[in-house]
Amino acid sequence: MKKIISMALTVVMLLTAVVAFSACSKDDEVLVMATNAAFPPYEYVEGEEFVGIDVEIATAIAEKLGMELKIEDVEFGSIIGGVAEGKYDMGMAGMTVTEERKQSVNFSDTYATGIQVIIVKEGSAIASLDDIFVFDDEGNPTALKNPEVKVGVQQDTTGDIYSSDDITNWGLNDVEEDGTVTTDRVVRYKTGAEAVEALKTDKVDMVIIDNEPAKSFVAANEGKIHILSGDNEYAVEDYAICVAKENTELLEKINHALAELKEDGTVDKIVAKYINAGSSN
Ligand code: ARG
Repeated sequence: MKKIISMALTVVMLLTAVVAFSACSKDDEVLVMATNAAFPPYEYVEGEEFVGIDVEIATAIAEKLGMELKIEDVEFGSIIGGVAEGKYDMGMAGMTVTEERKQSVNFSDTYATGIQVIIVKEGSAIASLDDIFVFDDEGNPTALKNPEVKVGVQQDTTGDIYSSDDITNWGLNDVEEDGTVTTDRVVRYKTGAEAVEALKTDKVDMVIIDNEPAKSFVAANEGKIHILSGDNEYAVEDYAICVAKENTELLEKINHALAELKEDGTVDKIVAKYINAGSSN
């Protein structure tokens, strides 16, 4: 009897080891990246395929780590939570490093710069920030030129976060001391493309979004919309890859791979493939 029990135990232990081993080796082979593939030229869908700067850099990183890249296309707002929970290994989505996001995830070294810009419809009364804000003598916004103004953004992006803030913080809303927002000038869409459609059909007066997607959307809608030029940029940001706080090993590996890919010119080559040399940033 004892023998049977010990044999059974050995079998169970063996099986456990096999299962544990296969589970672990499977995880080690696949690098799951969460993104929101509606953000050209960083990530978008072409035919049946995911393409773009982030997709190619991530592929190169995975290759360096000896892993296979698997892309999960999800809502932008669910990337950070999913990464923090361990549902995805990393998030790469033209994602801006912010202090608030750093509370939930760690960020890699940055690999690109983003600028928040304003898109308006052709013939819009808004030609510069002066047509949006009333400024005090120090150049700080104190009120809106047109309190009826509506801005379209992609939900949960920095464009959303900035514009939802109080006017005195360069936002478009009135926000009370306790954080209560008493206006609804910000209209949130699932994708930047939907915000741009809303602009074209006069549902909003402007869209605040990252400059490279902005250029893509303008190119796809030539003569209908344009980016406010000159000194009308909203914010300059760093893009990085996010990883779960406890996954410091992966973060280190990613940073190491990124450094090599920057140094040997791979990152520049990928960026140049998607962004015309000579265009501003
Ligand atoms: N850079 C902005 C942010 O981090 C927008 C990113 C949107 N990315 C996307 N793949 N839709 O909030």
